[in-house]
Amino acid sequence: MHRDPNLTQSKTNAALMARRRSALPTGLGQTYEVFAARAEGAEVWDVEGRRYIDFAGGIAVLNTGHRHPRIVEAVKAQLDQYHHTCFQVLAYEPYVELAERLIAKTPGDFAKKAYFLSTGAEAVENAIKVARAATRRQAVIAFGGGFHGRTLLGMALTGKVVPYKTGFGPFPAEIYHAEYPNPLHGISVADALRSIEHIFKYDVEADRVAAIILEPVQGEGGFYVAPPEFARALRALCDKHGIVLIADEVQTGAGRTGTWLACEQWGVAPDMVTMAKSMAGGFPISAVIGKAELMDKPLPGGLGGTYAGSPLACAAALAVLDVFEEEQLLDRSKAVGERLKAGLKAMAAEFREIQDVRGLGSMVAIELFKNGDLEQPDADLTRRVCAEAIKRGLVLLSCGAYANVVRILVPLTASDALLDEGMAIMRASFAAVLAD
Ligand SMILES: Cc1ncc(COP(=O)(O)O)c(C=O)c1O
Repeated sequence: MHRDPNLTQSKTNAALMARRRSALPTGLGQTYEVFAARAEGAEVWDVEGRRYIDFAGGIAVLNTGHRHPRIVEAVKAQLDQYHHTCFQVLAYEPYVELAERLIAKTPGDFAKKAYFLSTGAEAVENAIKVARAATRRQAVIAFGGGFHGRTLLGMALTGKVVPYKTGFGPFPAEIYHAEYPNPLHGISVADALRSIEHIFKYDVEADRVAAIILEPVQGEGGFYVAPPEFARALRALCDKHGIVLIADEVQTGAGRTGTWLACEQWGVAPDMVTMAKSMAGGFPISAVIGKAELMDKPLPGGLGGTYAGSPLACAAALAVLDVFEEEQLLDRSKAVGERLKAGLKAMAAEFREIQDVRGLGSMVAIELFKNGDLEQPDADLTRRVCAEAIKRGLVLLSCGAYANVVRILVPLTASDALLDEGMAIMRASFAAVLAD
């Protein structure tokens, strides 16, 4: 483990954890007992000077890395001009420019409009608001294993009870869950489509459904990829019944999957897209981008928010778009994905517990099973490997309905050498834990 000699040792992770425990509620989970002191690119140093390679990217927020100089410069320049007017009171150009540039990058051969919020959950809520206002229908179909945020509607749409919904009900009505394709766990595309027909048969008429919302790759749910044929079937179903198709690209968006939006790989366009996380490299902003005829349905004042589309976040998001172009980060996303998959496949050949290496672009994960038995998802091994990795200086994240998936969301700006160093730590962590 490398240490940064320039950092003072006056604060320790243990002392800060003790303060955290007494001041903050338990529900605010903490993956690792580590407090960050500084970060650069794909590396973080903690308050004790320990260095970590960051394969988590602040949960999919740092596709352009920590403190990218172009983004820092853009935010500083914006800070010197104005940092808040509330867009609905006094407008500013960066907001409009960002909408124009995101619209140009969103698939769909139709007129589009965009507006901004602050968090992913808010973007999801807003997409549903627009779909309901436009269709004058109420029901929404989401998917088992999906994650859409921690607000009341976000929780209702989320398809996982523990821990996201436990104790928080009742939830908004008229939300139904279909099955998401997941062949590894026995759900084919045909099964998933049949589950929607079951909802139409048993729960709600198709012509009362305002929207179907899905993640092109389930994030928290376990990095399962919806095959393009599933998206095409959903498109046809939505067209048949007048339902709005929403792609929740909060985690997949901003280049993670090798294209700016994952839905570009569907061959059909959703009516609306939500974005957040990496679109502004860590500055809080989210977006709803959609068909103009839908987006114009809510009344003036029905959309927006005090901080929504803050000038600092708009400046950061515009800089992110520039960085993607200048550094060809979409190509890099594909290359990072291939390098990670090759390394993980080599690990899978060595450790039979790793039974699946999957992903789209650089959104890559492995799934772990006891003795390689697909009937026995191994959440304990997953937790132990992540715990060993952090001790060795690598930040990993787990996810999945069975908590047995290790996912990688490393900054796309990371060098090959850093990716290899991170994977070597992963390998050593597996070896150490399995030797126990
Ligand atoms: C697909 C998806 N939608 C929505 C959200 C919620 O975003 P936020 O935490 O910014 O509210 C997340 C967060 O992980 C997500 O992955």
